[in-house]
Amino acid sequence: MTGHATMPEADIEGARYQADTPQAAPGFFLKGSHQLDWGMKNRLARTFNPQSGRTVMLAVDHGYFQGPTTGLERIDLAIVPLIPYCDALFCTRGILRSVIPAESQKPMVLRASGGPSILKELSDEQIAMDMEDAVRLNAAGVGIQVFVGGEFETRSIHNMTKLIDAGLRVGMPVMGVTAVGTNMVRDARYFRLACRMIAELGAQYVKTYFVDDGFETVTSSCPVPIVMAGGKKLPELDALTMAYNAVQQGAAGVDMGRNIFQSDAPSAMIQAVHAVVHKNMKPKDALDMFETLKHQR
Ligand code: 5RP
Repeated sequence: MTGHATMPEADIEGARYQADTPQAAPGFFLKGSHQLDWGMKNRLARTFNPQSGRTVMLAVDHGYFQGPTTGLERIDLAIVPLIPYCDALFCTRGILRSVIPAESQKPMVLRASGGPSILKELSDEQIAMDMEDAVRLNAAGVGIQVFVGGEFETRSIHNMTKLIDAGLRVGMPVMGVTAVGTNMVRDARYFRLACRMIAELGAQYVKTYFVDDGFETVTSSCPVPIVMAGGKKLPELDALTMAYNAVQQGAAGVDMGRNIFQSDAPSAMIQAVHAVVHKNMKPKDALDMFETLKHQR
């Protein structure tokens, strides 16, 4: 039999090429991410919901410097049941390996810096995990603190840029976290500076705090997505209002910890935050949702 005899008829073969339909050249849904490589984009598209362009990350990494934080004493009992309601979990590799079920389909973003405890100068951090281990753990990203204005500012910036270089080699997004010293002013001017530095130095997204005045200038002057950090525990309505204002003013979601796991109904709270972030639910409606879910327990 000749090769020619096995070929399909010419007119049918031509139809299969659909030559009159140009291949689409889609962009990418996340700000500043359209020129990244496929693996990096794929990890970002697992962390951020491509439909809403936003994420609800659940931050439970606090133990890396403050031990068994209130609400995180038993991550197996308190946090594992919340995993279905988050878009991504932000945790340490120690907790991932020891407690988080490997069957989980959720993306895991790993805390990659550490060193000092709450008893010492917090900006004195180092990179605390190899990028090779993040790949081994199938992480969707890594997170690192940057202490702009802090005592070890330059070192923390170098930690981040080294991590970014390692991340670029394997397609791993780096989340730069603006860490603010206790005696520093938390205003839009400071966060514009810190977020922009983190983005300019190459982080694929930034975690920062909400400020009442001018948060939209923090997001608009940052060329990559910003996720809002939660901060200390607030009454539920205040936390939901803060999350609502952040996403309405340009945040691509939240990475919240204490305002979820220190709530007296963490499962109800994370579902209410999810509605605010992905469905633009108004804070009062989200509080109603929280109360309803809380009483269904
Ligand atoms: C500090 C961090 C934390 O370790 C944590 O993720 C903070 O979460 P929250 O303030 O919402 O409890 O990133 O900057």
